[in-house]
Amino acid sequence: MGARRTSIHGEWSSRLAFILAATGSAVGLGNIWRFPYITGENGGGAFVFVYLVCVAAIGIPIMMSEILLGRRGRQSPINTMRTLAQEEGKNAAWQYIGWLGMAAGYLILSFYSVVAGWTLAYVFRTGTGVFEGVTADGATSLFGQFVADPEKLLGWHTIFMVMTIIVVSRGVKSGLEKAVRFLMPLLFLLLLVMVGYAMNTGQFGEALVYLFKPDFTKLSAKGMLTAMGQAFFSLSLGMGAIMIYGSYLSHLASITRTTIVIAIMDTSVALVAGLAIFPIVFANHLTPELGPGMVFKVLPIAFGHMPGGTFFGTLFFLLLVFAAWTSAISLLEPVVTWLVENRGMNRVMASAWAGLVAWVLGLISLLSLNVWAQYKVFGKAFIDLVEFLAANIMLPLGGFLVAVFCAWILPKETSLDELGLGDHFGYRLWRFLARYVAPIAVIVILLFATGIIELKSQQ
Ligand code: TRP
Repeated sequence: MGARRTSIHGEWSSRLAFILAATGSAVGLGNIWRFPYITGENGGGAFVFVYLVCVAAIGIPIMMSEILLGRRGRQSPINTMRTLAQEEGKNAAWQYIGWLGMAAGYLILSFYSVVAGWTLAYVFRTGTGVFEGVTADGATSLFGQFVADPEKLLGWHTIFMVMTIIVVSRGVKSGLEKAVRFLMPLLFLLLLVMVGYAMNTGQFGEALVYLFKPDFTKLSAKGMLTAMGQAFFSLSLGMGAIMIYGSYLSHLASITRTTIVIAIMDTSVALVAGLAIFPIVFANHLTPELGPGMVFKVLPIAFGHMPGGTFFGTLFFLLLVFAAWTSAISLLEPVVTWLVENRGMNRVMASAWAGLVAWVLGLISLLSLNVWAQYKVFGKAFIDLVEFLAANIMLPLGGFLVAVFCAWILPKETSLDELGLGDHFGYRLWRFLARYVAPIAVIVILLFATGIIELKSQQ
């Protein structure tokens, strides 16, 4: 049995602190910005259904695996993977999970910061009453004008990245706990207020049917891939964020229970966000295919008409910035720990450098919305391509490798010991999911979606 290590970067003050930090990482733009818009692009119910199945059957076992590995290795994902592989006499190439994660983290943070910048801008727009009495067309064209202006986007992207760098440079353990404990429930409450408003639009029933009545004829292989990618993206899996947070977790805490709590909270926020947004979409005769601008086109209509809308709207976007912030922090953290461990940098320098790289990458995404809008790569704007590649390909691949390493390569005693469930039903279920279900599902979905395997349709 491996000796208990301690992390040079410290430990959470309690199990609750870890749950809050991991929930802060999981709940973010993925739930409120991404989930509704990709649901709308992929036809609703069947897509949501696949997403939920992926959370339960792939996301939960992989999250447990990531936390387990992190806590066992207690270092940056790259070094954790290398140490664990060496310890068991396995190939050092397993550390490339960490490198893949580092690349995915940079890519995600780069466009994430741009979108978080939109959210920041919308705090001020809503606050100054820009949306009072706005029509659906008005809100859509305001968004269009906004993203067409690279200078505005640049300012907000820069502010958001600096905010992220500041927190990571001071260490993620101070402050995160207090902030998440208070602000996350408030965000959830506000979403419920929005659902209350949405219930009065007259189209709530239509939205319920759209979101929860699966029509599998509407689901393509690409839709399935996107649903699986969203399970990874939303739960912060596949790039080492949860692994590094796990590396600060006390060995006394139960990995299984914490994982389930985090997954339930994350998924609830996404579903509630869907229930807040889709009724407004239908009530205003919009199509669900509104693209990445969806929340910014739809919610302002509600804020423009509901009583206290300016207040609620400002608060909503402010809390969304905050949720994005606690997520972005977890994207930067794994890279920073690696720079500290391997390059001997201090935390401040490491955060500044890593943040700068992500900021520069973000510029390409930012310009692809306007100045470079005519250049498409594989038919997509650069920002959409990066989002697609990172969320739908790199994260599932990273998660696949984590599951395989944890459930096939590591000796059974290690996972048995870390999970602390005894060799009973819970442990066996995890092991079955992590050994067979999750890896096979990831590979099969990837092969279908890339067209390597094709279903012959009877026409
Ligand atoms: N889960 C976050 C969200 O939904 C985004 C995020 C943070 C993330 N850390 C991550 C996604 C690590 C993938 C991997 O907004």
